[in-house]
Amino acid sequence: MKRTKIKDILANEAADYKVNVKGWVRSFRNNQFIALNDGSCMGNIQVVVELGTDEAIVKRIATGASVSVDGTVVPSLGKGQRVEVKAENITILGECDNDQYPLQLKNKPSLEYLREIAHLRFRTNTFGAVFRVRHTLAYAIHKFFNDRGFVYLHTPIVTASDAEGAGEMFKVTTLPFDNAPHNEDGTINFKEDFFGRATNLTVSGQLEAELGAMAFSEVYTFGPTFRAENSNTARHLAEFWMIEPEVAFNDIYDNMDLAEDLLKYVISYALEHNREDLDFLAQRLVDEEKQKPMNERSDMPLIEKLEFVLNNKFERITYTEAINILLESPAYKKKKFQYDVSWGIDMQSEHERYLVEKHFKKPVIVTGYPKEIKAFYMRQNDDGKTVAAMDILAPGIGEIVGGSQREERLDKLTQRMNEMHIPTDEMFWYLDTRRFGTVPHAGFGLGFERMVLFVTGMTNIRDVIPFPRTPKNAEF
Ligand code: 4AD
Ligand code: MG
Repeated sequence: MKRTKIKDILANEAADYKVNVKGWVRSFRNNQFIALNDGSCMGNIQVVVELGTDEAIVKRIATGASVSVDGTVVPSLGKGQRVEVKAENITILGECDNDQYPLQLKNKPSLEYLREIAHLRFRTNTFGAVFRVRHTLAYAIHKFFNDRGFVYLHTPIVTASDAEGAGEMFKVTTLPFDNAPHNEDGTINFKEDFFGRATNLTVSGQLEAELGAMAFSEVYTFGPTFRAENSNTARHLAEFWMIEPEVAFNDIYDNMDLAEDLLKYVISYALEHNREDLDFLAQRLVDEEKQKPMNERSDMPLIEKLEFVLNNKFERITYTEAINILLESPAYKKKKFQYDVSWGIDMQSEHERYLVEKHFKKPVIVTGYPKEIKAFYMRQNDDGKTVAAMDILAPGIGEIVGGSQREERLDKLTQRMNEMHIPTDEMFWYLDTRRFGTVPHAGFGLGFERMVLFVTGMTNIRDVIPFPRTPKNAEF
């Protein structure tokens, strides 16, 4: 018999029909009731093991074991489920030794512990919910762009450029460590390397996306990006996924609208399609908040927070306004910030969080940053001091989106690159777009894991990517 997904059985109003279900045993009660889960949804189906079932089989039913059950869906007499499966034939597909199974040994395992067994954590309710939501968000992002006629452009993972000019890159090489070829001046001779030049893992697909936008008008990338920054925080990964739309003819205001629309669209898509998972995660958060001291608790439950974001326009302020708000804030005056505030600083996460969580209490788009703290490609404003950058700051997260209108004027761009010691000859291909039919254009990068954090209410970024890569950690 063909397998039926547990999700479909639970969603079906009918009863009294034959099914085959397969899944993993979440629990086995009184030698009679199996809670079976196949990951298709949060819920388990209750399988009732009939009296008289082969003892040898019953003995092998244990938490974590995989089973195949042929039976009949019947209305359930017990509390907590509408239907259950009356088993007629049970096959053990894979046994599970409960003296060794980590999820059986630990009662209520902590998120930290589950990170150590990331290969098994998908089998918990929390991670089941998180990764189903992650999937939905990825799908919604593609749907959003597809519905608007964007071309999905696969930008390279291995590249020779440092898009952000931050220099935090993982090198890609096949040269031997102990015997690398050298130039006369003692530097490594990358001409002998695999690609005939120094290469690295990409930190962003933006520069290549810009090339695509100069032909398709609207493109986006959605791929892995890599940063070798040594930030051991709950918001940073060394390998993370980024969504980068790039749109010809858009200015910074169009760019803000696009980003706000995108965020709202994917949030509402998840609310509509993953309600059960989100309700579970919301309850998880309520329970977690209870453990915290009063002053650290967040004031809005998860679903309300998401709906609030949907129903309110993001606040839009300039960097200069943001700095003034911080300087006027009680937190600043009472010296509560660890880092000082003055015009020109690269705002720290404590500053960003003050703006969104304390001052505005909603997402904030900050524009017009000092050019010194932003990348070379951002469009220079007429004041000579700021660039048309935009960061979106989200409650509980801080920066979730970073983007800008791009400098489309060849002379201004080369001048800025020279000031920042970015080799214009190696970047001839990027500059060519400004030589051959340049147009105003804009784009941004949305950190996918930060988006997943925001929607799921999880607090550590390591818990929203299946196998996190962070400093000193690349297991599994
Ligand atoms: O602000 P960033 O560095 O912007 C860019 O890379 C631009 N090239 C994007 C563009 O305009 N096309 O990064 C964009 C976003 C951040 O706002 C953040 O959400 C996320 O990427 N991000 C990280 N997420 C997890 N771990 C890290 N180490 C991250 N660094 C950036
Ligand atoms: Mg940024």
